Amino acid sequence: MLRSHTCGELNIQNVGQEVTLAGWVQKSRDLGGMTFIDLRDRYGITQLVFNMATNAALCEEARKLGREYVVKVQGSVAERSNKNPKLPTGEIEIIVDSFKVLNPSELPPFTIEDNTDGGEELRMKYRYLDLRRNPIKRNLELRHKMALETRNYLDSQGFYEIETPFLIKSTPEGARDFVVPSRMNEGQFYALPQSPQTFKQLLMIAGYDRYFQIVRCFRDEDLRADRQPEFTQIDCEMSFVTQDDILNTFEGMTKHLFKNVKGVEVEDFPRMTYDEAMKYYGSDKPDIRFAMKFVELNDVAKGKGFRVFDDAELIVGICAKGCAAYSRKQLDQLTDFVKKPQIGAKGLVYLKFNEDGSFKSSVDKFFDQEALKGCAEKFEAKPGDLMLILAGETDRTRKALNELRLEMGNRLELRNPNVYKPLWVVDFPLLEWDEETQRYHAMHHPFTSPRKEDIEIMETKPGEVRANAYDLVTNGVEIGGGSIRIHNKELQKRMFTLLGFTDKEAQNQFGFLMNAFEYGAPPHGGIALGFDRLVALFGGSDSIRDYIAFPKNNAGRDVMIDSPSEISKEQLDELGLCIRQTTARKAIR
Ligand code: AMO
Repeated sequence: MLRSHTCGELNIQNVGQEVTLAGWVQKSRDLGGMTFIDLRDRYGITQLVFNMATNAALCEEARKLGREYVVKVQGSVAERSNKNPKLPTGEIEIIVDSFKVLNPSELPPFTIEDNTDGGEELRMKYRYLDLRRNPIKRNLELRHKMALETRNYLDSQGFYEIETPFLIKSTPEGARDFVVPSRMNEGQFYALPQSPQTFKQLLMIAGYDRYFQIVRCFRDEDLRADRQPEFTQIDCEMSFVTQDDILNTFEGMTKHLFKNVKGVEVEDFPRMTYDEAMKYYGSDKPDIRFAMKFVELNDVAKGKGFRVFDDAELIVGICAKGCAAYSRKQLDQLTDFVKKPQIGAKGLVYLKFNEDGSFKSSVDKFFDQEALKGCAEKFEAKPGDLMLILAGETDRTRKALNELRLEMGNRLELRNPNVYKPLWVVDFPLLEWDEETQRYHAMHHPFTSPRKEDIEIMETKPGEVRANAYDLVTNGVEIGGGSIRIHNKELQKRMFTLLGFTDKEAQNQFGFLMNAFEYGAPPHGGIALGFDRLVALFGGSDSIRDYIAFPKNNAGRDVMIDSPSEISKEQLDELGLCIRQTTARKAIR
């Protein structure tokens, strides 16, 4: 070992000991007679002292050490006169006897400090330097602990971790596949897995009745703060279980993680149907850290001569407690917010329940005090409350009000990142209609089983069929999703037919699974949790990027290794590929 101790472990108990440390020069202070250097490694920072009076030559040498030089030092531990209570090593320093530069460093392009001066793009380009910073180090430590605790819990429940292949055939999960050309099978492609879905089902058929994998998945989709093109799932499957068994097992796992990693006891997770989630929160991933549930007003707000309401399919609002004193400006800001194109509402109606018991609204022309009171009663509003109302087509209006509710939650600081409110959303529809392609898509994936009682209406009322599918939602984030699967060839064929596959196409793409169903497939189901999202949630952030050692930027690029990139003509030829000129030119940046 090049060191006897790390830079994070020496304290007052070690005074007098001879030690060897190795690490990076964090900073250097030259005070004339004395030079102080902070030496950093993964574990912490230790102060080194060089004294002009006792060893001038060494001190002169030390003054030449630049930031991020890698050095090995030998010396003795001494008590500091000027202690730093913020550092675990803050009571001691090392009186250096000798040191060796293991490697010099260029001046880093940004400061390696908690609050760095480096912008996102620069930090990503030099990610190995960014990773030296404490906040990122803490995030990766959190990730490691969570992976470890996940394995501990699942192992204790009898799960096996089994790896599944990365070079597979495409599984339709809603996103585009990343594909890999095969040299040995010219003109043919592998797909990188969007998830190990079909493989974990095959493992159930093989009898490995509790499987898990902390596994990389690949999806070629538009990126956001909580989406990366390659991300990690805690992917799980169980046989001979009901939906309740799965929810209980993974509620147990989530609670175990909260307790063992964060020291937080979370309450039992409520279960909400998809229909309830949409009706009361306008979202299938409601943030239930705060109430502000939707209140529908069709019965009290129609027929007063206000066209917007009279023509609307749905009139629905939320009640913001104690906000009746909102100024004109604040209300205008909220109106502008809902009218943003990505939110899409045409306008916002407000109703104030003033402290003196009177009502004031933006539709006073059509609603007298009695009618406004009728609306306020629906909200169970109290004097001092502000009601915000949207109207229009049901789905769009709910979606817009969901955004407004979250915005109000932010404004009123009701979305505390240190409060965790997980819940299960259950009974998702099996299918959703896609206007663009004019056909049904599987809401979860095509292997999800319809609820038994709805199987008979699969062909007659496909839009009404509910699935044995569930999501784990926490603080407005979809952390995981899963379902009980179809394990019968005939039912699986009916599902593919509903999704617009011909028998031949279904057989061609999924024959391997449907055939396997004929060799004793047990009833089974499972779930996958988005590991990056779970870690970011525990870390108190919306962005998963800082919890991934080497993430991609919003354009799906790794700016450090400059990928994706072109490949040589020889490689293309070998793979039997040719690239359209225009595409090739576009790719050159
Ligand atoms: P699903 O597609 O719902 O289910 O994915 C499971 C969870 O993975 C996370 N996730 C992502 N995280 C980061 N970046 C992405 N691009 C991304 N996409 C998804 C989410 C999501 O809840 N095979 C099924 C699971 C099953 O049925 O068992 C599946 O993959 O947190």
